Amino acid sequence: MADFVRVARITDIPSDSARVFTVRGRRLALCHVDGTIYAVDDTCTHDGGPLGEGRLDNHAIECPRHGARFDVRTGAVVQMPAVFPIRTYPTRIENGEIAVDLGDGAV
Ligand code: FES
Repeated sequence: MADFVRVARITDIPSDSARVFTVRGRRLALCHVDGTIYAVDDTCTHDGGPLGEGRLDNHAIECPRHGARFDVRTGAVVQMPAVFPIRTYPTRIENGEIAVDLGDGAV
């Protein structure tokens, strides 16, 4: 079941950047790419690096710790050393407000 929670305004996240928000105790990196917001876990699956502090290059976010890259659309690893994907969450934008689905719809 969907469980959308309002997190931020789209104006809080400049284009081509990520910002970290804590939502119900979970650290999420919200990534703004071409007017679309993607929500992923902030924690790198390699060794716990802070993904939200990494560089966002198109749809790939790069972990600042050892350089693993993940596709923010799917969570898939696109560059090692990470081997496991990150979790992604559905998002929606209404009246400029970003909401993230933390419920069963999460991938
Ligand atoms: S902790 Fe992210 S690449 Fe190592």
